[in-house]
Amino acid sequence: MLKISVLVSGGGTNLQALIDAQNNGVLSSGRIVQVISSRSDAYALERAKNAGIDSYVAVNENELLECLNRYEPDVIVLAGYMHILSKTFLEKCTAKIVNIHPSLIPSFCGKGYYGLKVHEAVLKSGVKVTGATVHLVNEIPDGGEILSQKAVEVHDDDTPERLQRRVMEQAEWVILPRAVEDLCRKIDGRIFVKPMKYPGRGIITGVTPSGKKMFAYFIMGRSTSSRARVFERSGDELIIRLTRQDPKFDPSLILYAPVRVFEGNVIVTNGDQTDTIYESLKAGGTFESALRTREYEPDAPHYTPRISAVITSSGYKQSILKRAGRYFYEYEFKNGIGHLIHTYDHDVMRDDVLPSFMGEPREVKISDDIESFANGLWNELDEDNKVSLYVRYYEPDMKGYHDKLFNKGE
Ligand code: GAR
Repeated sequence: MLKISVLVSGGGTNLQALIDAQNNGVLSSGRIVQVISSRSDAYALERAKNAGIDSYVAVNENELLECLNRYEPDVIVLAGYMHILSKTFLEKCTAKIVNIHPSLIPSFCGKGYYGLKVHEAVLKSGVKVTGATVHLVNEIPDGGEILSQKAVEVHDDDTPERLQRRVMEQAEWVILPRAVEDLCRKIDGRIFVKPMKYPGRGIITGVTPSGKKMFAYFIMGRSTSSRARVFERSGDELIIRLTRQDPKFDPSLILYAPVRVFEGNVIVTNGDQTDTIYESLKAGGTFESALRTREYEPDAPHYTPRISAVITSSGYKQSILKRAGRYFYEYEFKNGIGHLIHTYDHDVMRDDVLPSFMGEPREVKISDDIESFANGLWNELDEDNKVSLYVRYYEPDMKGYHDKLFNKGE
């Protein structure tokens, strides 16, 4: 978990947005460890106190460095911090620094543009659209790499205060926590499926840094029928239940057991090939021999791939059955590492066909904390399309496990 220091000077509504995001799981890959204010009367200090976060006042850069040294943060967020950090400070600071600026950079930014002054200048210029920008900080004021932006309309009857409020509500408080979360993940090497909106169904199998075997399975859906589903635990297996019956719809491709366990072999798939693999193992066959009897799904024109995985005592295997052929991958356990495979490759469709996953399963980092891993993955899945996620972390002896289940529909 990365450490975040938040620097403030005023009301601290952006700090509050970060605290709220931490409480509701949007910000889960980093933790706010301290709040440092350039003014002792900033209301932001009150917000930090209410949230139980250590807070400090630092009126110059020496004091600031001293405060930062107590925690050695990985990320510093300037959340309404009304000072420009000097070149010397930036050279000494090893953390990534992000700033939220209340305009669409490169407009209305740089020296002299801060707080209400930005909105006054926006109104004076007569532009009809403004917004907010989250960017990395370098020696040029408001000049570092842009991480996220969101546009907000300017209204004819706006005052600077009214416009400031709308930019905060519609843009700043929304994009700042997400950008900070994304940055933490990037630093931590934990970006899974992004930036796709529709990877479809996905499986991760792997091992945590302390040697716990794990898997994750998620489903996403585009049609109402495929979205009307929930995961349910059934002993040590996982099943899918429909939350709404649609007589026009054939449920055979969306109702199946994604997880089954045969004598210590954990099978995870996106279809009824779970049963094929289970029966094969039971009869002395293998993962591969079972899947050689199956092929991709018959859902023309996409012909969705069948993706499958098995965790055995010596490693894990993954497979994808698609029109181009049957592919198998085999991995040894390596602490902290897993592999992700999903059904669709990218969001751009040709002739309305979803492109099948291409290439090899992607190597991903697995953390020891199931909460942060599972929340992080769930948050990363596109809000409109995600349906369910199940994550299981086994004890090192494979006897017990911890799990987490998310259903959008409940
Ligand atoms: C916010 O609008 C922030 O974008 C801006 O100051 C306000 C602080 O509000 N920052 C800058 O202008 C930096 N150049 P807050 O204290 O309520 O978060």
